[in-house]
Amino acid sequence: QVILEVTGVPAGWIHLLPEAGGGPVMASSAGLSQEVAEALARYRSPECECRKTPYSHQPVVVHPFHAGCPLLALDLGANRPLTCHVTVPLLARSRVLGVLNLAGDDLALFDEQEIMLLNTLGRQLGVAIENTRLWDELKKRDALRGQMLEQAIAAQEDERRHIARELHDQAGQALTSILVWLRALEAEANGSAGVTVSPNRLQEFKAIVADTLDGVHDLALELRPSVLDDLGLVPALQRYVHTHQDRHQLAIDLQTVGLERARLLPSVETALYRIVQEALTNVVQHAGACEVSLLLEVRAGSIVAIVEDDGCGFDTGPLMRGEMDERWLGLSGMRERAELLGGRLTIESAPGTGTTVFVEVPLG
Ligand SMILES: Nc1ncnc2c1ncn2[C@@H]1O[C@H](COP(=O)(O)OP(=O)(O)OP(=O)(O)O)[C@@H](O)[C@H]1O
Ligand SMILES: [Mg+2]
Repeated sequence: QVILEVTGVPAGWIHLLPEAGGGPVMASSAGLSQEVAEALARYRSPECECRKTPYSHQPVVVHPFHAGCPLLALDLGANRPLTCHVTVPLLARSRVLGVLNLAGDDLALFDEQEIMLLNTLGRQLGVAIENTRLWDELKKRDALRGQMLEQAIAAQEDERRHIARELHDQAGQALTSILVWLRALEAEANGSAGVTVSPNRLQEFKAIVADTLDGVHDLALELRPSVLDDLGLVPALQRYVHTHQDRHQLAIDLQTVGLERARLLPSVETALYRIVQEALTNVVQHAGACEVSLLLEVRAGSIVAIVEDDGCGFDTGPLMRGEMDERWLGLSGMRERAELLGGRLTIESAPGTGTTVFVEVPLG
């Protein structure tokens, strides 16, 4: 509206190119009838000169109109048909975000100076649109981070509850039994000089201690496998893959290239371990896969992990467009871990095609 007032042009509109791809979308219009605005939003004639602007990044003056152009139907009243229009790119950082269009009944309105002015306006509008989009993205990411923080705190509480229950139910009860046995032994020892403890009782006693040890060991392994700290990522993943495939009857093929004896930064090892752990948990929970391959490879200054399954796959569209929501916290967490280390995570999947998770993290 302001541009129309300043330039004295009777009609104008803005088409934006959606970030997710696809054709231009009508973002705003002034001086157009509703029918013409709707027709313009649908109009996709590749022969029109104005369609070149998004590729050439240059303003285009169209005169006369292409035969099918919906602008021909616009009636400005007083017998004034529109005769020409100009399309100016909305540019931000050399990218075309959309086009500003102005249409008039006098070609003299669009002289060289006017077009230079509109071109400058197009750049300013482009930067303003880019800033708004970045701001929206920032707000979305902030909200997601908040959700993830809440989720992390809830997960921490769940884990504490789980440890407390395990300690109480397993180690606590076992230690209580051992105490009872020890009291009985004490009583027997006090009762006679030559203590005799039946071999069966001793067997039982040993079994309880062994079970308790196993339980504590499993718990510690689940919390953080010491092998990750002691021996590194590859042995830790070999161990995880071994238990995971036994537990879920899944064939997992683990291959490593170029890091047989290498130790990586602890932050990189932890991040990759957790990312692969979540990817494999997702395979069990969602994919219904028979086979999984896991590749870890050192490539020019970075480490790459690829987890590929032959399961049901899923639509990754929202993820790739950055439209993350609370339903994708596992995947967001994986991506966040990779990005915190300056790396990236991509997922290739579609319903019926299996899923490939690709993570790359710089080594140094
Ligand atoms: N390997 C896979 N095969 C098929 N679908 C998958 C796979 N990985 C993820 N998905 C889909 O992506 C969605 C999001 O996964 P994500 O890990 O973010 O959440 P979740 O596993 O549902 O829950 P959470 O990880 O928080 O327990 C899943 O619900 C599932 O629909
Ligand atoms: Mg998950």
